[in-house]
Amino acid sequence: MIGVFDSGVGGLSVLAEIRRELPSADLLYFADQGRAPYGVRTLEEVAAMSGEVSQWLLDRGADVITIACNTASAAALHQLRARHPDVPFVGMEPAVKPAALNTTSGIIGVVATAATFQGELFASVVQRHASGATVLTTACPTWVELVEWGEIDGPQARGQIEQCLAALLEGGADTLVLGCTHFSFLVPLIEDVAGPDVAIVDPGPAVARQVRRVVGDTDGGARLILASSGDPDLLRERAGQLAGIEATEPVLACVWNGG
Ligand code: DGL
Repeated sequence: MIGVFDSGVGGLSVLAEIRRELPSADLLYFADQGRAPYGVRTLEEVAAMSGEVSQWLLDRGADVITIACNTASAAALHQLRARHPDVPFVGMEPAVKPAALNTTSGIIGVVATAATFQGELFASVVQRHASGATVLTTACPTWVELVEWGEIDGPQARGQIEQCLAALLEGGADTLVLGCTHFSFLVPLIEDVAGPDVAIVDPGPAVARQVRRVVGDTDGGARLILASSGDPDLLRERAGQLAGIEATEPVLACVWNGG
């Protein structure tokens, strides 16, 4: 069983890609909606929460874990690999490398959470892969909320996107890296605001291919279980609305400290 988690519904964008790569795999997705958003918390808090969620997934039979959250990957990927040496963890990192290969202006824009930008992972990715480029960054916490509330179009969403992209576009970015899994659901609007000359790099499909490399061509029963530490009905609704995902079983509710 492949365990997948995020602070909320953003990781459903990665889950949908994993399902495309591995249609018969058994998948268990955990949305920590009772404690979302992660991106405005400290890296220490996010690391502790990621540890609890990972243990929850392992206790329910996950044998591989995909951290479908850039913030949690920045805060906890190394720790989790060290704590569970027998469990393969696949994490997210901002796709600065393909962006550096794509840019012609030499200016890359990265949108992510504040916590992701604070992590060592981001600095090291930029240093390793984009030392010759200018990397402009903007934290967009309101985009996470838009997606959690299912507001992926309309004037309010457009206004928030225009506001967050303004400095990056005025700064000459011709390539935009989506450094938060929630943002994949805003791609049509982001494309519209950024215009046809700006390329958008979403690492979701590449991460799903990595999951496939790690697990091999698994033959499962195509079970798809969703779990939330918030409102399970809301998760079910968003999964359908945002990602066309329907669980094969009733959505599980998790209450922290209560099991
Ligand atoms: N989806 C998450 C990410 O990829 C985090 C969003 C949040 O909870 O702030 O970073």
